Amino acid sequence: MSPPAALPRSTPCRLRSLPRVVLAPSLAVCLFAACAGGAPEPDPGPRPDFQPTTTVEELMRAVIDPAADAVWDAVVITSTRDGIDREVPDSDEDWLALEHHAVRLLESGNLLQIEGRPIAAADSVSELPGIDLEPADIAVRVAGQYDAWLRSGRELHDAGVVVLEAARARSVDALLESGDRLDAACESCHSRFWYPPDAAEAEGSDPP
Ligand code: HEC
Repeated sequence: MSPPAALPRSTPCRLRSLPRVVLAPSLAVCLFAACAGGAPEPDPGPRPDFQPTTTVEELMRAVIDPAADAVWDAVVITSTRDGIDREVPDSDEDWLALEHHAVRLLESGNLLQIEGRPIAAADSVSELPGIDLEPADIAVRVAGQYDAWLRSGRELHDAGVVVLEAARARSVDALLESGDRLDAACESCHSRFWYPPDAAEAEGSDPP
């Protein structure tokens, strides 16, 4: 059995953990020199001790997919003989439930950016070989484009924020729009990392 396919662990330059405010151009130059090896590095202080215990696949199944489905299913518009039938969230309870789903989605964008999270359990295989990549292949892609992986996590976060704002504003139109943005965030990561190269290339060159 092969070891779990994991996201890469990188050792970022200390600069990244410094507050942004010190990155004024003149200071950035001398900080860069410090980073490159001259002066001793400042003590970065306590570091987070994230434990990426569950896999990307489990996060998708347990948290992200159910929350996204709840958002996409919240508004149902049906054309009937009597006209258009709109099923929309109409109680405070409905809207509050949507706010909570948005919280799950946006924080999942952060969870996906924790280093070292395995893609799937060691014995997991693609359910649709040829249509989805195997976890080990996904891990190689993620390692090769780790920046894009982090950006995709951030996109999910930002899409979740838009859903949260729509739910807080109790706006059906904004909720519908946020659902599209959410869908785009899911699909841009999936087409880059989860679907085989042919699928992405057939649609055009590089996925957005
Ligand atoms: C940062 C990248 C990324 C984002 C964003 C993302 N996914 Fe995924 N998703 C993956 C990867 C990688 C897999 C394949 C993992 C596996 O099953 O091996 C996956 C798999 C899945 C699966 C299949 C899980 C299974 O049973 O195997 C579902 C369902 C899913 N994602 C739904 C979503 C939805 C819905 C969204 C958006 C709300 C989303 N994903 C956003 C990367 C992402």
